[in-house]
Amino acid sequence: MADDLNDVTDDETNESSEAQIAVHWREEDYYEPPAALTAQANASDPAIREQFTEDKFPDCFTAYADLLTWYKPWDTVLDTSTAPFWKWFVGGELNASYNCVDRHMQTHPNKAALIWIPEPETEAHQAITYRELYVRVNEFAAVLKDLGLKAGDRITFHMPMVPELPVAMLAAARLGVVHSQVFAGFSGTAAGHRIADSGSTVLVTMDGYYRSGDLLDHKVKADEAVEAAAKEGQHVDKVLVFRRYPGQYSAKTPMVEGRDVFVDDLLAAHKGEIVEPARLSATDPLFLMYTSGTTGRPKGCQHSIGGYMSYVAGTSKYYQDIHPDDTYWCMADIGWITGHSYIVYGPLALGTTSVMYEGTPNYPDAGRPWRIAQQLGVNIFHTSPTAIRMLRKVGPDEPAKYNYHFKTMTTVGEPIEPEVWRWYYETVGKGQAAITDTWWQTETGGFLGSTLPGIDKMKPGSCGPAALGIYPVILDEDSHEVPRGSGKAGNICIRAPWPGEFQTIWGQPERFVSTYYAKYNRDPESKDWHDWPYFAGDGALEAADGYFRILGRVDDVINVAGHRLGTKELESAALTVNEVAEAAAVPVIDDIRGRVVEMYISLKPGVEASADVENKVKVAIETDIGKIARPKNIWIVPDMPKTRSGKIMRRVIAATSNFTDTGDISTLANPEVVDKIREQVQSAKRAKGEVPRELSETEEHEIKSFGQE
Ligand code: WTA
Repeated sequence: MADDLNDVTDDETNESSEAQIAVHWREEDYYEPPAALTAQANASDPAIREQFTEDKFPDCFTAYADLLTWYKPWDTVLDTSTAPFWKWFVGGELNASYNCVDRHMQTHPNKAALIWIPEPETEAHQAITYRELYVRVNEFAAVLKDLGLKAGDRITFHMPMVPELPVAMLAAARLGVVHSQVFAGFSGTAAGHRIADSGSTVLVTMDGYYRSGDLLDHKVKADEAVEAAAKEGQHVDKVLVFRRYPGQYSAKTPMVEGRDVFVDDLLAAHKGEIVEPARLSATDPLFLMYTSGTTGRPKGCQHSIGGYMSYVAGTSKYYQDIHPDDTYWCMADIGWITGHSYIVYGPLALGTTSVMYEGTPNYPDAGRPWRIAQQLGVNIFHTSPTAIRMLRKVGPDEPAKYNYHFKTMTTVGEPIEPEVWRWYYETVGKGQAAITDTWWQTETGGFLGSTLPGIDKMKPGSCGPAALGIYPVILDEDSHEVPRGSGKAGNICIRAPWPGEFQTIWGQPERFVSTYYAKYNRDPESKDWHDWPYFAGDGALEAADGYFRILGRVDDVINVAGHRLGTKELESAALTVNEVAEAAAVPVIDDIRGRVVEMYISLKPGVEASADVENKVKVAIETDIGKIARPKNIWIVPDMPKTRSGKIMRRVIAATSNFTDTGDISTLANPEVVDKIREQVQSAKRAKGEVPRELSETEEHEIKSFGQE
């Protein structure tokens, strides 16, 4: 989400301890949905829930599939025969590009499909009608086809927030080419790993784009990516380079003869060409989206065409309350799942106008989002807690200066503190918009927990009840069900499949089963979904009112500004530095970005601690992953606290970095090191003014159990 905030400097975040952010999360008061919203909402009658009760599963989801246009209807709604690789709408045929473009081009060709706002305020915005989108998607599909790409091949995009990105996605989808968009803020090396993992032979990138006022050279990352992919045995034949200003090259890095081509040059040969959308099976893959997990290798979450498209269309309709005449703006980046589902595929499937913004939300000042909203008449707004915290900090009074009206506002990606929620509600929403706090994941394709904006009361800090047709259960470590509504924490699982769920991890089907199903599976031979609860990897509790409060990851993943970073990825980057013997990454509570990373390092014998080593670790992380993963602090310590079997106790160092109680250390092999590290780290942090506020109970829980499997 607020990758936008990668650019927030450490200095800005350091001084941001805000006493107002609620310290302890208690049960909060409810807020009623605005009556004007309910009157027009797609879901305005609570009886809608009855259509999605468990006795109607799985057929209830045909209501979502019916929002799409199918070449051929499905024969089977849900096929469980290859459990837990569920198949939705089997026998059905459709095309995602047709559903997002062609069918609207027929009914409302001159309506804006996308409105793109460049970061420089001196540049005019671009409104791209459905008709124009149709032309551009077809022409780019012709380019891809000309390169020999066909259904089932993979293609990697490393694209910033420009309209060429959705055009490229929809062009690939038109042919059935499986796209993998890598967040532009990731390094070239990170893109290269993903190119290699997916087996892509074509990389689509851009020469440059604007962030915080600078036109960044992005093409340089393509050269790094191609090299990193080659090291893993994957050859990239072609790098297609869009130009931020067509006809003019904005990067300094030279084009590589025979490999790199300007897309605007290629397009010239395909003017006006039409490529018929491929008739694809509902169970064919639409795209891969890489995310972090407990190992160093990212997981390529593979999403289907039929199930995914149905689920994002249905949830966009009922949870985003998108009507054809709305102007919808999701400030996420398309490099993450939120942008795929709720900038591109969901809103465009419904034929609405989706706004895209190139830059950082607080550029050139914290009034920018509200100016955009006013100028375009945005009435549905969608962003992350990190962006909200940032805008609240730098421009608490800005929203009042602008004349816009939101009917609903979404938050996604991390827990939102009640105090921040209230600013969003009262100041941004002017008390007139419903907030949907949507809990879900890259793996889940769409929302799992959220209020229905026109029906349900809101409760700050809780995402709300389960989404339509989603049946969660909270299980303890012994597979016992935590009593419903008891307010006791456990692992949140989803009992039944749903259409938006990913199909597998690309190339790693065993990891799909072991990560998401093995923990609570009752019988590996079973073809009955009741035996296969989906393990989401989040701690959660359900209050007496049936609302869920998400407590955060239970695995080795750190959620920085709403982005998942695997500790193993961070640590392996640090270990590429010669002097480093051991590395451990832990989360630190941060008032803007939710969590930031701190890295603990021990050095090889004979190596002295120095600023030089620290810097090398920083550079290694930025090179391997990207700036977003840059640690707030790197602590070079004499030794790591370890169990007798030699496992680094991350919860102990996490507690140290967060100034909280280290808990029981009697089982450590080297308990004496704990005091030493505490003295070193905490006195240095005190000197820098980095003593965090008191943690809330849920934060405390997360830190104290960090890295416990
Ligand atoms: C966290 C983002 C609290 C959670 C769509 C999840 C949340 C991870 C919320 C997925 C929320 C997401 N409240 N926590 N509303 N939404 N999370 O894959 O830990 O980037 O497992 O997908 O973010 O992150 P991902």
